[in-house]
Amino acid sequence: MKIGDTLSIGDIERLAKRRLPRVIFEGITSGVEDERGVTRNEAEFHRYRLLPRHLIDVSMRDQSTTLFGRSYASPFGISPTGVAGIFRRDAELMLAQAATAAKVPFIMSGASMVSIERIAQIASANTWFQMYAARDQKISDDFLRRVRAAGFGTLVLTVDNPVLPRRERDMRNGFRLPPKLAPFALLEALMHPNWVIDYLRQGGMPVMETWAPYAAPQASAAEVARFFRTQSPTIQTWRELEGFRRAWSGKLVVKGIMRPSDAVRCIELGVDGIIISNHGGKALDRAPASIEVLPHIKAAVGDGLVVMLDSGVRRGSDIIVARCLGADFVFLGRATLYGVAAAGLAGASRALDILREEIDITLGLIGCPRFEQLGPDFLLSDDGEHRAASGGPLDVIAERRKEMV
Ligand SMILES: Cc1cc2nc3c(=O)[nH]c(=O)nc-3n(C[C@H](O)[C@H](O)[C@H](O)COP(=O)(O)O)c2cc1C
Repeated sequence: MKIGDTLSIGDIERLAKRRLPRVIFEGITSGVEDERGVTRNEAEFHRYRLLPRHLIDVSMRDQSTTLFGRSYASPFGISPTGVAGIFRRDAELMLAQAATAAKVPFIMSGASMVSIERIAQIASANTWFQMYAARDQKISDDFLRRVRAAGFGTLVLTVDNPVLPRRERDMRNGFRLPPKLAPFALLEALMHPNWVIDYLRQGGMPVMETWAPYAAPQASAAEVARFFRTQSPTIQTWRELEGFRRAWSGKLVVKGIMRPSDAVRCIELGVDGIIISNHGGKALDRAPASIEVLPHIKAAVGDGLVVMLDSGVRRGSDIIVARCLGADFVFLGRATLYGVAAAGLAGASRALDILREEIDITLGLIGCPRFEQLGPDFLLSDDGEHRAASGGPLDVIAERRKEMV
């Protein structure tokens, strides 16, 4: 299969699986401990069905969405994925380019292998910067300076990794910073010669350019990676968040919020938005799925905060479900990472195109021409619960169900 023949994110994932050595591919798919969180993230989306409204003119459909005063062509963007350059050299640049072409936001990871300055050259208007605060405050301050100079308007603070989670699969595979692959993994890699040849020809593991200025001069890729690990993860508290709010005058987003009370506290501190996230199942294995907590958080914050979500999104219809439950915007991590790993820029763009088309078709099929008009009225959950206020169309179904029992 070629990238142009892929029809779904699942197809793109299979293509990435073929290209990458198994332990490298699993660095994308892996979760933590028993990896139940990864499965839960997707399963919770499947609990919802969309209730179509028919005999509506859906000849013109519009999924453009306004976020922080900017109009985006679609209601989704690219989540930050660190060390993407391991999967393909300069993957971060390709993700930024694909997002720019699709007119959606790209969140550059603070653990990127491409520098802030190189990303800024090709995509500053739609790039947000995700920061892992450093143990050394001077480094964090310098990151803010560079991000400001790059012209990125939005800073994202990730708070769900205060300590290093146990990614057991990665530990068994030797997938870490810098990678130290077990002999079985090296043998298996020979079955993916194209990836191995590209990796070796380009000099092996790329340097984490975002962190290189703070490591020793002329430090190797492995030394910069080790330096990064001495600075991150770091414990952050509400006090540090207050400090970031004072120091950063642009939009401030906190990523990894799961509790309604934490979301309310973010409003009190002047945070502009949150991304409900469990790091795609790569942080706490027993965390709830983002889509499970979304309605509770939305009920707690109302319109006081921009509420975004990631973790487990694989279809355009997942994005529609999230919107019906109150999300203002949705992000995806693995979907575009599979794309860029499988086929570079063309692969990342293909993933975005597929999601865009799936949203477009779903809007038509459910009789809602504008994405921004979606609401709970379109949702039916597994337990037969209809999300609309009483008096809504499904009260009739609820009555019928009772009659059938
Ligand atoms: C390989 C990989 C690297 C990641 N690196 C980061 C990172 O550097 N910073 C961060 O905030 N989240 C990181 N994440 C989490 C993503 O931003 C996002 O929350 C998650 O992938 C969403 O789930 P999904 O993959 O099911 O879409 C990473 C995820 C993956 C798969």
